[in-house]
Amino acid sequence: MAKPIIIEKTSLMEQYEEETGRVSIWKGEISTHFKKWRKKKQKDDIKKQKLEMLSQSRKERKEIKSEIKQDKEAEKDYDHLIVVENLHKTYLLGTTAVAALRGVDLTIDKGDFVDIMGPSGSGKTTLLNLIGGLDTPTRGKIFLEGRNISMLSDNDLADMRREKIGFVFQFYNLLPQMTGLENVMVPLHFSGNLSRRGKRKKAMDLLRTVGLEERGHHTPSELSGGEQQRVAIARAFANDPAICVLDEPTGDLDSKTGIMILNLIRDLNRKGATFIAVSHDAAVSEFASKVFHMRDGKLTHEGKISGLKETEIMELKRKQESELNKEKCKSKIFNYLFANQGKTEIKVNDIKNSVPKGIITNLPEHFNDILKELIEENNLNGKIEGDKLFFK
Ligand SMILES: Nc1ncnc2c1ncn2[C@@H]1O[C@H](COP(=O)(O)OP(=O)(O)OP(=O)(O)O)[C@@H](O)[C@H]1O
Ligand SMILES: [Mg+2]
Repeated sequence: MAKPIIIEKTSLMEQYEEETGRVSIWKGEISTHFKKWRKKKQKDDIKKQKLEMLSQSRKERKEIKSEIKQDKEAEKDYDHLIVVENLHKTYLLGTTAVAALRGVDLTIDKGDFVDIMGPSGSGKTTLLNLIGGLDTPTRGKIFLEGRNISMLSDNDLADMRREKIGFVFQFYNLLPQMTGLENVMVPLHFSGNLSRRGKRKKAMDLLRTVGLEERGHHTPSELSGGEQQRVAIARAFANDPAICVLDEPTGDLDSKTGIMILNLIRDLNRKGATFIAVSHDAAVSEFASKVFHMRDGKLTHEGKISGLKETEIMELKRKQESELNKEKCKSKIFNYLFANQGKTEIKVNDIKNSVPKGIITNLPEHFNDILKELIEENNLNGKIEGDKLFFK
């Protein structure tokens, strides 16, 4: 006799028996009624799941719609040029997640020159790329002129970049085979309706703004680092961007050239251009109007670092001031000599006393050397001997 097959009861069978009051196994076999019940239940479950998903996505759609509505409201009447809200960016490296930004909040107004300082790997470039629309955040929002750019499609983001953002990078990123002028013209080819002549004129005007109108026909390899960076700045302004983003703009320049570039950026800022820069270079913060510090993907505090050892820029500023002082001193001496023309000898001390004390105390050189320089420059035919100046 064949051995009876023992069927083990499943939890579904138990549920069936409980719900219907029937047995699921009859004479060692699964009951036909149970099989029918099971089929119907499976169908019902799928239906239920579908309905759940549908209502879920309806809910989501509703939420997204209301977010878009809110964003549109913000668009109509925005207070800040840029608002960054709780921005997160996590990169996936194989199976490891790198949290480059961990909740950044920031506002930028028109006319600001924002500098974000921070150690390597703190997330500066990541933040800049998100603000510039080169990448999208994992979480959080970015509003540019009230428009939520974190929700844009790739195509819309590309349009936004072209119309609203000017980029300047550490290594200039100029096209090597083109002249400076042609490089500045590149963004003009992708937008607007200027004629070729109009584009050339606009590019020339931009080169003039950065003091390079004479060098427009040179290719990047024929230009110094500072000149290449000036071309890059001119190019960034080709499309009249709402904001110019700078990633380590002085990073590849010696400190003196870096300061020249920063002076240029500050001039453009004073004329109304808005900048956001990220940098290791403390000199950038000396020129910026708002300074933030970044560490481990978060913005820490606002404000310029005080107590830093004197930066090159301060030194340069002092040098410029003392040069100016020297010129003022020479003009006072000249006035005194002019008033005493005809005399054959004048006491050096009398000349010195004619110059205000404030100027004397801040001279970069010895007073007598400055007097001598002035005599030579003006062919005055005088000679200092002892404490007197003799004229022949
Ligand atoms: N494309 C990427 N894929 C994976 N990880 C990345 C990527 N870009 C940046 N990271 C990581 O994110 C973190 C922040 O990088 P980010 O380049 O923003 O820093 P940074 O402050 O600009 O540094 P630096 O001063 O060296 O330029 C780093 O740990 C970096 O390794
Ligand atoms: Mg960087």
